[in-house]
Amino acid sequence: MSKLLICPKSNGNTFNVCSYISEKENIDLKILNSNEKIILSKYNKIILSTGVYGGRPHSNLVKWLKSIEKEDIAENTEFFIFMTWFGRGKSDKNVIKKINSLLKKVDKKLEDNYITCLGKNMLIIRYKHPTKLELKEVLNWIKNI
Ligand SMILES: Cc1cc2nc3c(=O)[nH]c(=O)nc-3n(C[C@H](O)[C@H](O)[C@H](O)COP(=O)(O)O)c2cc1C
Repeated sequence: MSKLLICPKSNGNTFNVCSYISEKENIDLKILNSNEKIILSKYNKIILSTGVYGGRPHSNLVKWLKSIEKEDIAENTEFFIFMTWFGRGKSDKNVIKKINSLLKKVDKKLEDNYITCLGKNMLIIRYKHPTKLELKEVLNWIKNI
């Protein structure tokens, strides 16, 4: 049994964090840019990742969560999430709510333990995010779950 990291798309801040993690840690990375079916039963920790868009998760992640089935997931599998965002209000909590509502269908919910890091914007704010420190923090978090 091992860890699976799910990334909604193959570019952007969230992808940059996921690529860093998959380089440093022995973890399977799946990018949701095709309809390829993922065998979930061999993973006991599934780590979702997403940017935050108006308080919602990425649409590829929503679509994928709608497609998974209870029989595909081992009984003891735990779901986690990390997000990249601008730190706006409670938009992270809104994403968690949405994900949990989707996981209900497979009798799962996110573990309480989640992590966020700031995403880079093309404008001046957050220009240098995610920083090396943020990348390391997410990596350590993943190592310890
Ligand atoms: C259309 C749009 C909506 C966004 N909404 C939020 C938001 O509600 N809260 C927040 O903190 N950041 C928000 N952001 C910032 C993104 O969550 C942040 O840039 C994130 O790192 C994007 O991830 P990505 O590069 O993997 O797509 C928004 C960005 C965009 C482009």
